[in-house]
Amino acid sequence: MELIDGKKVADQIKAEIAAEVTQRVADGKKRPHLAAVLVGHDGGSETYVAHKVKACEQCGFDSTLIRREADVTEQELLEIVKELNENPDIDGYIVQLPLPGHIDEQRIIEAIDPRKDVDGFHPVNVGRMSIGLPCFVSATPAGIVELLRRYGIETRGKHCVVLGRSNIVGKPVASLLMQKAAPGNCTVTVCHSATPDLKDHCRRADIIIAALGQPGFVTADMVKPGAVIIDVGTTRVPDPSKKSGFRLCGDVDFENVAPLCSHITPVPGGVGPMTICSLMSNTLLAASDKVY
Ligand code: GUN
Repeated sequence: MELIDGKKVADQIKAEIAAEVTQRVADGKKRPHLAAVLVGHDGGSETYVAHKVKACEQCGFDSTLIRREADVTEQELLEIVKELNENPDIDGYIVQLPLPGHIDEQRIIEAIDPRKDVDGFHPVNVGRMSIGLPCFVSATPAGIVELLRRYGIETRGKHCVVLGRSNIVGKPVASLLMQKAAPGNCTVTVCHSATPDLKDHCRRADIIIAALGQPGFVTADMVKPGAVIIDVGTTRVPDPSKKSGFRLCGDVDFENVAPLCSHITPVPGGVGPMTICSLMSNTLLAASDKVY
């Protein structure tokens, strides 16, 4: 069994990006500039955004954090989005999700200029990805595919089972892995809460991508020996022994599944660091006008 070290790969990629930024600056070009909009004080969102700001420093990017309280109106948020769309100094930006219930998330996402949508959430980017056109691919699916590439994991002709059908992970990763590309060329089965015989599908999988948000859902009896396991789960489980009061739990029963498989991602330190790093790659692409 080989552990897929997402932290190590992400550090390598950030170093590659930093080197490219140094070259850009030496050539007289501006530093890539990523902005993040954070509404309210959700613990998970605070952590993610702090990691994104730190990654910008590591890559040599400029970053701007725009904070609003949870009672911000949809109109105010749409104004911020408009300003970011029009600000030539901002190459790309994200609006951290989830947003408070009184705000229509989809309306905000659709107001983002697709050329600055480095999260790849705008329907234009989602649609372009699904037909294989240049676009911003959302960060978690892009990070997963990059891990498969960097670990030389063959995907062509393999059966990949995706657990979960979210717009952020399940649907886009299924779409990427079925594409005529490398990595890609998988036969993909997407399982969700209404799938009968889910365990049987998993047992036939060469690659399982677990993105359900249910700690320990994938157990050893669901895994074919030699399978590749990608765990996208990051559920916060209370743990008084930790300073933070919680620990991050993946969707895979790691202890019992790891001995069976050929490759597996740990939680934390697997997919998570790659997600942030893909956002940095997208921002560099945006600054270089390489997508649009
Ligand atoms: N919330 C959870 N993951 C993400 C992400 O990748 N981007 C944004 N904007 N919000 C999130």
